[in-house]
Amino acid sequence: MSPGKSGMYPAVHERPLSGGRRSRAVLVTGAGGEMGHSLISALAARKDTSVVAMDIRELDPHVREHCENAFVGDVCDANLLERLLAMYEVDEVFHLAALLSTRGEFAPETAHQVNVVGTLNLLKLSAEQARSHGRRVKFIFPSSIAAYGIPDLDTKRKAGAVREDQFLEPHTMYGVNKLAGEHLGRYYESHYRKLAKDRTPNPIDFRSIRFPGIISADTLPSGGTSDYGPEMIHAAAQGNPYACFVRRDARIPFMTMPDAVEAILKLAAAPKENLTRCVYNVAGFAPSAGDFERLVMERFPNAKITFEPDLGRQSIVDSWPEDVNDAAARGDWGWSPKHDMQRAFDEYLMPRITARYR
Ligand code: SER
Repeated sequence: MSPGKSGMYPAVHERPLSGGRRSRAVLVTGAGGEMGHSLISALAARKDTSVVAMDIRELDPHVREHCENAFVGDVCDANLLERLLAMYEVDEVFHLAALLSTRGEFAPETAHQVNVVGTLNLLKLSAEQARSHGRRVKFIFPSSIAAYGIPDLDTKRKAGAVREDQFLEPHTMYGVNKLAGEHLGRYYESHYRKLAKDRTPNPIDFRSIRFPGIISADTLPSGGTSDYGPEMIHAAAQGNPYACFVRRDARIPFMTMPDAVEAILKLAAAPKENLTRCVYNVAGFAPSAGDFERLVMERFPNAKITFEPDLGRQSIVDSWPEDVNDAAARGDWGWSPKHDMQRAFDEYLMPRITARYR
């Protein structure tokens, strides 16, 4: 185990334990990423929740302040995870750590390590937690529209809003990894150690959402292929020119970060008996890159936006559906996004982004 930037991991004996008992906590991996920023403050607002965070880098102080403890390290580091779980009785895991689709194509084997081996480590240790404290561990796994792989543009246009069980032949390592994570979660929930005499049945309560591209007013994504949406808006708000790396007619679904956090919390809180599947689509809005351009130009008339498609990244976007069918999420746990595209700009993005760059 190698130390993080802080130079040291907290050791097991450094934490005062009340009466020798481990304290109960919710674990968030990838806590320093875009979704971690927003999710952690929402989790910390729940009265009964202590958040233990983990990230490959030190957390920003305003994220760290919401956490009971924060570990710097890698989800592939099984020793670190074991130490962490020896200190806390973890009831719920939000496993956000991942290497996204563009970055993953430059280092596919590393993406596999982080995205699949890291997920496997966490599932295994969560199953051990469940066995030791006698309660199922809830495991929340953000998957992605990257799990889909549509063979060509004509098929994409004809397919429209795809269901969870269609076109599951992803073109990127990230998509392959997310699909693998979904299957691993389902396996740990229903079939783990099927033949072992001493098995604990159903140790994990696995719940996953296939997220579309996510747009935050507060942070910028990095290493993803849906990044052109948020990048265009943030560039215009800063007065910077932006060369969009996909065609004007490229279309995939997006949602705002507050809606994404709401979705993840809602699915986590749903009564298990209402859930008819492990993995759910959620839709927000489904704009073309040209629709982004139009709304950005209306609000920032001096913005300089050009379209200079990168054929590789374009081909990834072309393999993702133009929209998703989220009827199961709506029916099973009451999913309903707050923001359509107009409201996303008017009520969320514009007020916060303009204040941010003023
Ligand atoms: N935002 C992700 C990516 O672009 C897709 O879920 O890789």
